[in-house]
Amino acid sequence: MKRIQLFEFEDFSWFPNWLRNCMTNLIVVLQRMMGTSEALASLIARIIHDKKIWRIVDMGSGSGGAMPEVLKILHTKEGLEHVELMMTDLYPNKEFIQRFNNTPKTGISYYEHSVDATDIATAPEGLKTMVNSFHHMPPKEARKILESAQENHQPLLIYELGENNIPLLVWWVFLPIGLIILVVMVLFMTPFVKPLTWRQLVFTYIIPIIPICYAWDGQASLPRMYTLADLDKLLEGLKKENYIWEKGYAKTKKGKKKGTYLMGIPK
Ligand SMILES: C[S@@+](CC[C@H](N)C(=O)[O-])C[C@H]1O[C@@H](n2cnc3c(N)ncnc32)[C@H](O)[C@@H]1O
Repeated sequence: MKRIQLFEFEDFSWFPNWLRNCMTNLIVVLQRMMGTSEALASLIARIIHDKKIWRIVDMGSGSGGAMPEVLKILHTKEGLEHVELMMTDLYPNKEFIQRFNNTPKTGISYYEHSVDATDIATAPEGLKTMVNSFHHMPPKEARKILESAQENHQPLLIYELGENNIPLLVWWVFLPIGLIILVVMVLFMTPFVKPLTWRQLVFTYIIPIIPICYAWDGQASLPRMYTLADLDKLLEGLKKENYIWEKGYAKTKKGKKKGTYLMGIPK
């Protein structure tokens, strides 16, 4: 496999939740800048339309990422006006639980209890999505997720915005410059975080823990991502007649590549 198992700060259980939230808040801004939601919405629309699914259960939601925006797009499509989104995480984001669960009629909720994506069989009914979170799973757990989705006849969509497409040596050589670029990006992205808290500001501009941790996690994410060939290895021996696996590049309306996906669809 090309993927390697580096550490990310946000994976440590001792890592403060408020700091993890500040970092996932920045991923929301990044995805808005990159326009992820359109490509994701068209992938999701295809499955939920075909399979008549009324709820999306997002796993590893963090601060929501692109999913609330994706739901808005889905609601503009015929027949999908009433689709609901339930966000979940191993470390649920308390601020977002309060924000989303107290805003009625959006069709969005945030599950208050910890949901481990590797235990997919116990997650609520609906299309399971994993957006930018599958690379957090080591191969054994990753395989378990795929197996479990297939065994339990559950539809699953895995999506990663980044792509592990440069040689590892090049990644190491450019690591210092990559870290600096990400630190600077955080300084510019922070004013766009919603809601912008004093913690996000203080620990970005005065004591820069957030930019440092975000820069490392962002850089470490790349070689941790499963390439399309790695996904084939994970799927080895899994194929069954009543379940289809499809993978490839997500695309915008104009046909521009926007991340990679793996979709598991029960027949
Ligand atoms: C890089 S963030 C992505 C957040 C969001 N999906 C997005 O696109 O902005 C990865 C998220 O996966 C969560 N996570 C890590 N391991 C997990 C697991 N085993 N089960 C569920 N969530 C997990 C982390 O808490 C974190 O919120």
